[in-house]
Amino acid sequence: MPQRRKVYEGKAKVLFEGPEPGTLVQHFKDDATAYNNQKKGIITGKGVINNRISEHLMLQLSRAGIPTHFLRRLNMREQLVKQVEIIPIEVIVRNVAAGSICKRLGLEEGSELPRSIVEYCYKSDELNDPLISEDHITAFSWATPQEIDEMFTMSLRINDFLTGLFIGVNLKLVDFKIEFGRHYQDDLVRVILADEITPDSCRLWDTITNEKLDKDRFRRDLGGVEEAYQEVARRLGITPESANQENESTIKLR
Ligand code: TMP
Repeated sequence: MPQRRKVYEGKAKVLFEGPEPGTLVQHFKDDATAYNNQKKGIITGKGVINNRISEHLMLQLSRAGIPTHFLRRLNMREQLVKQVEIIPIEVIVRNVAAGSICKRLGLEEGSELPRSIVEYCYKSDELNDPLISEDHITAFSWATPQEIDEMFTMSLRINDFLTGLFIGVNLKLVDFKIEFGRHYQDDLVRVILADEITPDSCRLWDTITNEKLDKDRFRRDLGGVEEAYQEVARRLGITPESANQENESTIKLR
């Protein structure tokens, strides 16, 4: 098989040049990092499960009218996506207080926020993704005012849709991080949802017990990390059995 050209390698994913112009192959790794790379580990099978979860959520969102980069899943760890110019902003939507907002504003973890809150961070590992305002984004030309409006509106629609989808499977969408990209086609440029939506980038709690079923299990050494990701996949109707069948040797006969 010819060597594929690596376009970018991140903490949990690798992007390769795609088979057709304007496409990329997004490969999901098992690597996990937290606290800006200070904590590193491997969550066995995470890449396989995240590939399926992101596929599922992106397809549902696109059916609900949100433009996304997802084209199709290629294999257990890879999906074909549209090539975009990533806007260097992480958009975070919060419904319940958890993580950095608790420290920053002295809130108790689990307390309901008065309404959903949208935050922006500048994508920079060296600077630890600092929280920024809309004024920073326009002053430094990271995005135009119109692009900020589109990201803001889409983020709240994504939040509404995903909140409902997760409630249907007894999961509370506490918060999530998404990224957008500029997709150039013919003479048009359009802002579309890119990157991934997985338990790496969301906080998901069981609606009854508040048990954490996301990357906080890894960040906080709570154990049962792989099982939590599998449970999210199982509740979404993505069979963990198929996620385990990455290669023949891993299939156990029962
Ligand atoms: P935070 O509470 O640490 O700011 O995180 C908010 C949400 O964003 C949480 O669901 C985890 C996600 N997130 C990422 O996916 N990547 C990141 O680099 C950060 C800081 C947060």
